[in-house]
Amino acid sequence: MEQYSSMITGTGSAVPEKVLTNDDLAKMVDTSDEWIRTRTGIRERHIAEDGIATSDLGARAAQEALAEANLAAEELDLIIFGTITPDMYFPSAACFVQNKIGANNAAAFDVSAACCGFLYGLDLADNLIATGKYHNILVLGGEILSRITDWNDRATCVLFGDGAGAAVVQPSDGKRGIVGNYIKSDGSLAHLLNMPGGGSLLPPSKAAEDPKSFYLQMEGREVFRYAVSCMGDAATTIMSQNGFTGDDLALFISHQANIRIIQAIAKRLNVPDEKVFINLDKYGNTSAASIPIALNEARKSGRIKSGDLVLMVAFGAGFTWASSLVRM
Ligand code: ACO
Repeated sequence: MEQYSSMITGTGSAVPEKVLTNDDLAKMVDTSDEWIRTRTGIRERHIAEDGIATSDLGARAAQEALAEANLAAEELDLIIFGTITPDMYFPSAACFVQNKIGANNAAAFDVSAACCGFLYGLDLADNLIATGKYHNILVLGGEILSRITDWNDRATCVLFGDGAGAAVVQPSDGKRGIVGNYIKSDGSLAHLLNMPGGGSLLPPSKAAEDPKSFYLQMEGREVFRYAVSCMGDAATTIMSQNGFTGDDLALFISHQANIRIIQAIAKRLNVPDEKVFINLDKYGNTSAASIPIALNEARKSGRIKSGDLVLMVAFGAGFTWASSLVRM
């Protein structure tokens, strides 16, 4: 018998209006639509206009999620925002969202777990609701990765996009909810995917000496290898811990980084293509926003029905990896 502490009662997402296609990128760096599509599955991505911050996208996603949950912003007691591109170093993006939506009674903080930020936040929310101390938690994942992208580096600039997603998490009604979560990290692999500049080690005063350090850097081939094995671990562990196989799943929502990574994990889980959710063709890799945008689109387009078992799996810098199994 499944036991649930919490359930997702509303979801929302937001992306900037401006679209950058693969053909647009081919005019900026030595690449092609054919290379990007066949290596990654991405066709286009959304890029935030100047003056738009991560919390602006987060606030839009939050308002959609709150409306669906039929919850007023004042009723939120906690806001958890997964992001590696907050509006500024401090205060947290969560505090900016709090102010923008008028969640005056909430505590708010960010989670730094790169692409796993939303699933780390969901695990936290689920466990905090289980304590009985919190009742209405807003979990967000959002990024404006375009601001830390080196637009001269074809190996990375074709991969990423901007956006945000949100979920309202409340005590379970007993019939559905979060079945289980799994989160892991391995800090020994931090050098394979990072942005070295801007922190205490290489502060902004050094930006002129080492400008490339102030952009996202990635060893793509190595990251690919670890992404397949770590997401495979996250997916199979949570399924076996809860006594499920691929046949029990209605939908598999992977972090939307690369179609080849998603297909490799789906194969390992024995999940057929029609149960695999894909939207990376439209958005690219939006890091912490990837899973909540996909979850919202899957729900609103009718791909998820009441009672369905949904598996979400992510992987990102740290390295971090995570999974969540939800009875919707
Ligand atoms: N256009 C054309 N050619 C390119 C491009 C490009 N945009 N980028 C790289 N190339 C070239 C390389 O220079 C290389 O050329 P060479 O053989 O002459 O040296 C060739 O293409 C192959 O490069 P690889 O890096 O080996 O290509 P690969 O097949 O590994 O694909 C990719 C690269 C798409 C980045 C892949 O490694 C990948 O997806 N990695 C994982 C990324 C990921 O999952 N990140 C998720 C976590 S990170 C996060 O979410 C923040």
